[in-house]
Amino acid sequence: MEKVLNEILSNAQNEIKNVNDISRIDEIRIKYLGRNSELTEIKKNLKNLSNEEKKIIGSLANNISNVIDSELKIKYDELYTLNLNKKLEEEYIDITLPGIGRQYGKLHPLTQTINEITTIFEKMGYSLIKDKDSPEVETEYFNFDMLNVPKDHPARDMQDTFYTNVGKNVVLRSQTSNSQIRAMMNKKPPIKIIAPGRVYRSEAVSARKNNLFHQIEGLLIDTNITFGDLKGTLNEFIKIYFGEDKKTRFRSSFFPFTEPSAEVDVQCIMCNGKGCRVCSGLGWLEVLGAGMVDPNVLENMDIDKDKYSGFAFGMGVERLAMLKWAIDDIRLFYNNDIRFLKQF
Ligand code: DAH
Repeated sequence: MEKVLNEILSNAQNEIKNVNDISRIDEIRIKYLGRNSELTEIKKNLKNLSNEEKKIIGSLANNISNVIDSELKIKYDELYTLNLNKKLEEEYIDITLPGIGRQYGKLHPLTQTINEITTIFEKMGYSLIKDKDSPEVETEYFNFDMLNVPKDHPARDMQDTFYTNVGKNVVLRSQTSNSQIRAMMNKKPPIKIIAPGRVYRSEAVSARKNNLFHQIEGLLIDTNITFGDLKGTLNEFIKIYFGEDKKTRFRSSFFPFTEPSAEVDVQCIMCNGKGCRVCSGLGWLEVLGAGMVDPNVLENMDIDKDKYSGFAFGMGVERLAMLKWAIDDIRLFYNNDIRFLKQF
């Protein structure tokens, strides 16, 4: 019996020594110490032995159980530590490495420019017009007729304006000035609005011209509004947008919907006024048209021209952005080249 017990012990010790899979520890425990193990069987049958033998075999069997149990525990700890170290080594993270940066998107430079300009005017008390009150697909009625543009005006020519087949006289607006008419239609004076948006012209594309571009329209109608108010407003805007020392000039001009009319030029920063392809060799770039609202327009919109007067202006967003950042080709705004867009 003693021999059998010692054999059990040495078999168990052998198996424990050679095991290297932690999940097998339980199997070995069940095999040697479990309910159906040889050792348990021997302990169960102790009652059939003499008192003398019971003592010797009983204590030997218990000792063997204890040894197997403690060797299993030791082996378990050993394998556990081994596994853990292996895992730690494999899943090592160098926390001193720089992180993977996220790419952030940003607003398109034209959107930034529109936001900047409309904010300047909103601070002066102008209300921002919603897109639905300044549509890009427009009738001639709003784009030309009510703005006092004669039926035979060259701007109406198919060479200049995109006509659609959506309906009779439906065009892609050639100017944001349609929003003036819609503002006067929707509200009685005083009116003080700013309306940014896209406009379309059938033009040969070049470094300075694209057939889609953006304008910001302004309109102020109230009592006692003078040309001095217009000039003061535009000067103030230019000072805020460009800073104090930008070279600009105010020049008289003509628009069917304003009388008198003016244009504002900004010195070309691509050539410092010497003349280049962006300013067509002129040294100056026109950035906006403006003037006192023509009494004919007020009359069209049933506004008492003896009581009210007003001024209006329309500025080119691309031009203003180009002159601020020295962008020498308008087409850069539409190519979506990330190397360009990232700079703003
Ligand atoms: N709509 C004109 C254009 O596209 C610009 C303009 C001139 C707008 C005079 C105005 C204005 O509101 O009063 O060339």
